[in-house]
Amino acid sequence: MTEVSTGRVAPAVLPKPNEPCWCGSGTKYKKCHRGADTVEARKRGPEVRRGIRPGVISPVRSVPANIPRPDYATSGRPARSPVLPEVKSPDVIDRMRRACKAAAEVLQATAAHIRPGITTEELDAIAHEEYIRRGGYPSPLNYHGFPKSICTSVNEVICHGIPDSRALEDGDIVNLDITIFLDGVHGDTSATYLVGTVEPDSERLVRVTRECLDLGIAAVKPGRPISDIGKAIEAHATQNGMGVVRAYCGHGIGERFHSSLQIPHHYDPEAKTIMQPGMTFTIEPMITLGHWHSRVWDDGWTAVTADGSRTAQFEHTLLVTDEGAEILTVA
Ligand code: MF3
Ligand code: CO
Ligand code: CO
Repeated sequence: MTEVSTGRVAPAVLPKPNEPCWCGSGTKYKKCHRGADTVEARKRGPEVRRGIRPGVISPVRSVPANIPRPDYATSGRPARSPVLPEVKSPDVIDRMRRACKAAAEVLQATAAHIRPGITTEELDAIAHEEYIRRGGYPSPLNYHGFPKSICTSVNEVICHGIPDSRALEDGDIVNLDITIFLDGVHGDTSATYLVGTVEPDSERLVRVTRECLDLGIAAVKPGRPISDIGKAIEAHATQNGMGVVRAYCGHGIGERFHSSLQIPHHYDPEAKTIMQPGMTFTIEPMITLGHWHSRVWDDGWTAVTADGSRTAQFEHTLLVTDEGAEILTVA
C-alpha cells in the first residue's frame, strides 16, 4: 500500500486511472493516490490535520481530610460572598507570597517529568501529590466541576485541557497550569514546554509567548490603566505575526481563585481600572500561530484555536508595588 503523501498537493486536473500518479511515485494513478483524491478527501485538504482528540479521563483523586479546602471543593460552585477588595491587606499579601511560591514549586516539580510517552493524566497525578505534600489543595479540582488537579493544554489547545490518557508525542508543546489553595489564598502559574524535538515555528511561538508575558509584566505601573498590559502584549504578538486569544483574560486573585477584575491580553480601551499598589492579579497571555478565534470542545472545558493553529501560554501571579510589579509565583 502506498501511504498518502502529506506534503504534496493533488493537481486540479487529475491523471487518468492508468496514467502515472501526480505524486511522482511512478506507479499508476489508480494504484496510488486515486483513493485519497475522492471528493471527501479533497475537501479535507492535502494535509489531513491530526489534531488533539479527547482521551479517557480517570476517576477523581481524593485530597486528605486535614487539608483546608476552598468553598467550592464539594459543591463545585464558589460561594456568593461579598466582593473582596482588589487591593490586598499585608496579611493576605504575606499568605499569597507563600501560596505563589508553592505553586511555582509544584510547576517545576511536575514539568521535570515531561517527556514523550508520559500521559497528561500521569502529570496530573504527580502534581496532585506535590500540592498535598505542601499542605495545599489543588485549586482546579472541582472548580465549577473541573475534574482534575491541573490543566494540560497540548498544541492547538489554548487552555483548560483536561489531563487524560493521551501520551505526549515528540514534537508536541504542552502548557501545565498549576493553582494551589494554601493558607486561605490561591497562587496561579503556568508555562509551556517543548516535548522532545519541536519544529521551529512552535519553538518561536513559545519564545514569543514568554516575551509577551515579560512585556505585560513590565507594563504594570501604579497609576496606569489595566489596558496598558494588553497593549504591550498585543504589539509584540502582532510584530511577530501571531494572534492574541481574547476569550480568556488574566484575573484578580487572592482569597478567591478568580475575582471580578479582568486583565485582557489584547488592547481593550475599556479596561480602564487604574492599577494600585497592593493589587494582585495574573497575566497569562495565550498566543497563537494563526487567528485568535477560539472554540470549546463538547466537554465544556477544552478551549482550542478555531483554525487548529498551535498556541502557547505563560502565567504569573503579580503584586502591584510602588514601582511596578513583583512576581509572586517564583520558586
Ligand atoms: N488556572 C486557570 C487560570 O489561569 C484556571 C483553571 S480553571 C479550571 O485562570 F477549572 F480549569 F481549573
Ligand atoms: Co492558571
Ligand atoms: Co489564572
